[in-house]
Amino acid sequence: MTNPVRSSVDRATFENLYAGKAPWDIGRPQGPFVAVADRVIDPVLDAGCGTGETALFFAARGHRVTGIDFVEEPIRRARAKAAARGLAVEFLVKDATTLGDTGARFASVIDSGLFHCFSDADRRRYVEGLARVVEPGGRLFLLCFSDAEPGTEGPRRVSREELYAAFADGWEVEYVQPTQIEVNPEFTEIKFSEGGPKAWFAVVRRQGGVLEPQPVG
Ligand SMILES: C[S@@+](CC[C@H](N)C(=O)[O-])C[C@H]1O[C@@H](n2cnc3c(N)ncnc32)[C@H](O)[C@@H]1O
Repeated sequence: MTNPVRSSVDRATFENLYAGKAPWDIGRPQGPFVAVADRVIDPVLDAGCGTGETALFFAARGHRVTGIDFVEEPIRRARAKAAARGLAVEFLVKDATTLGDTGARFASVIDSGLFHCFSDADRRRYVEGLARVVEPGGRLFLLCFSDAEPGTEGPRRVSREELYAAFADGWEVEYVQPTQIEVNPEFTEIKFSEGGPKAWFAVVRRQGGVLEPQPVG
């Protein structure tokens, strides 16, 4: 695995970012999750959910959704949005590197900008936890910074090979496609690529079963 990183982005860094204008907080889900929405099956976990837009998007589509984040402020905002929109989402303050201790099971996991926050060690803990909570045949939908994004400011760059390596055992990487992450235009501290940081969108299936969306009607 290339590009080893010793420490994950810590809670204090995120607390500071949420005290200002968090660059990823665009008021709606990132486009790739909207594009695959028909493939998302109940129950859904949004890991590192931030202020909850993706979780709330899937709840509005009728899904049972749990959103977790290890920072309290975005969870407070996510709960307020859920109440204002009349949507029932379980938003919890929880560290995604300890997923395995929940006992919960999910058919779909959304990861919109979480994977690239982790050190190598926390990445392994996260994937081990995912292996315990994702049902056989369930899927992880993952959006992360790519190594095609120039520079080093912002989160860790992830290579396509690192994604395949992280999910080599007990998972099938269905595809990894290049995309870009939309950034809040009010965030100007870091200059990313035109159109947003270059990113990967990956769909990864947990082996050992078959889970497909049921046709409606
Ligand atoms: C780049 S932001 C993306 C937020 C949200 N998913 C979105 O797309 O707007 C990453 C989020 O992951 C959260 N996070 C980082 N490390 C975490 C961990 N170990 N456990 C839970 N949440 C974490 C951060 O607090 C932050 O809200």
